[in-house]
Amino acid sequence: MKILLGVTGGIAAYKALELCRLFVKAGHEVQVVMTQHAKQFIGPLSFQALSGRPVRDALFNAEQEAGMGHIELARWADWIVLAPASANTLAKLRMGLADNLLTTLLLASDRPCLLVPAMNRLMWQNAATQENVAVLQARGYHLLAPAEGVQACGEVGAGRMPEAQQIFADWQARSTAAAYPALHAFWQGRRLLVSAGPTFEDLDPVRFLGNRSSGKMGFAIAQQAQALGAHVTLIAGPVSLPSPQGVQRIDVRSAQQMLDAVQHHYAQHSVFISAAAVADFAVAQALPQKIKKQAGQKHLSLELIANPDIVAWVAQQSPKPFVVGFAAETEQLLPYARAKRERKNLDLICANQVGAGIGFEGDDNQLVLISREQERTLPMSSKHQQALGVLQEIMHLLTQ
Ligand code: CTP
Repeated sequence: MKILLGVTGGIAAYKALELCRLFVKAGHEVQVVMTQHAKQFIGPLSFQALSGRPVRDALFNAEQEAGMGHIELARWADWIVLAPASANTLAKLRMGLADNLLTTLLLASDRPCLLVPAMNRLMWQNAATQENVAVLQARGYHLLAPAEGVQACGEVGAGRMPEAQQIFADWQARSTAAAYPALHAFWQGRRLLVSAGPTFEDLDPVRFLGNRSSGKMGFAIAQQAQALGAHVTLIAGPVSLPSPQGVQRIDVRSAQQMLDAVQHHYAQHSVFISAAAVADFAVAQALPQKIKKQAGQKHLSLELIANPDIVAWVAQQSPKPFVVGFAAETEQLLPYARAKRERKNLDLICANQVGAGIGFEGDDNQLVLISREQERTLPMSSKHQQALGVLQEIMHLLTQ
């Protein structure tokens, strides 16, 4: 997506650097536009280095305008994010003033715009600012209200700009919801339980049996569903991924712990997506001390016992949620996945070819979605895009 990041004058401008980095990291194109006051707080070169584009800051600059004129720039953007939005710029926006490049762009744009105000608490509380913000919201501007806390000026109250990570997640949720209105309407308020990642089965205090699942697919599903307004509980095996904003996360290690967590939570959710790569076997008896090798020892035998099948257990309950499983296969993808769906009594199975360069650790994926009635192959894309495809399929199956 093409994002125009407007930065106005305020101490919070430094947080906009991190926000810019997060947008770029997520694959978006960013054009930064700064006001003259913003440049008092932070140098344009930093934004240029992060976004890979020269910062735009002047309305009457022949050189800048020769590249992309300001009206063209307003049309270029899919989204405008104003962070930090100063009291002064909010007031100008409300009045329709166009006295610098940023306010002119805002006036000349019909694109969705997220305002992230940051200012001293009294400036925020001031009736003028409150009225300006209310009017702008009524006109369709999105608002991420300032956070409470200690301010740079030493006062305590509402006015701090939220951290970049939170702004990014908030924007992502709004842009996803705006791009997929029907999906948003379906998932809004729905309760979704997702399992993700591998399970580790301990042999002794230092060793375990594990698998190569990264957890990325399950986390992407949790994040996208949350962005669409769902209440998401994420049961995560041992992975090093950050929690998606707003998602309730429960960390587990073994298949047994994952089963316990799922059994505890499934009844409060209307959909269960089992994206975890649950170990099929655990060591019969994990040893309390490290296993020592004997001199000259050539073999070690371990007795393994089958783990409970978590998704099959949920699918046997009555009443049960809508149950979605995954089938990670290295060969015979479709026949194995179809058989797995029937054997486990799943409403939907997402078949997933795994092997060199595809599947577990990569960022891209290609799922085949198999239900009782139909099969659909999603085009190869990011795991976040695949996650949307899965959420869309669930909507189709539950509303047809
Ligand atoms: N699954 C589960 N509990 C297990 C094993 C698997 O809940 N003990 C779930 C996975 O989360 C996934 C689906 O079952 O949604 C299929 O997992 P997979 O490992 O592909 O299938 P298995 O049942 O283990 O079959 P196989 O090892 O023969 O491929």
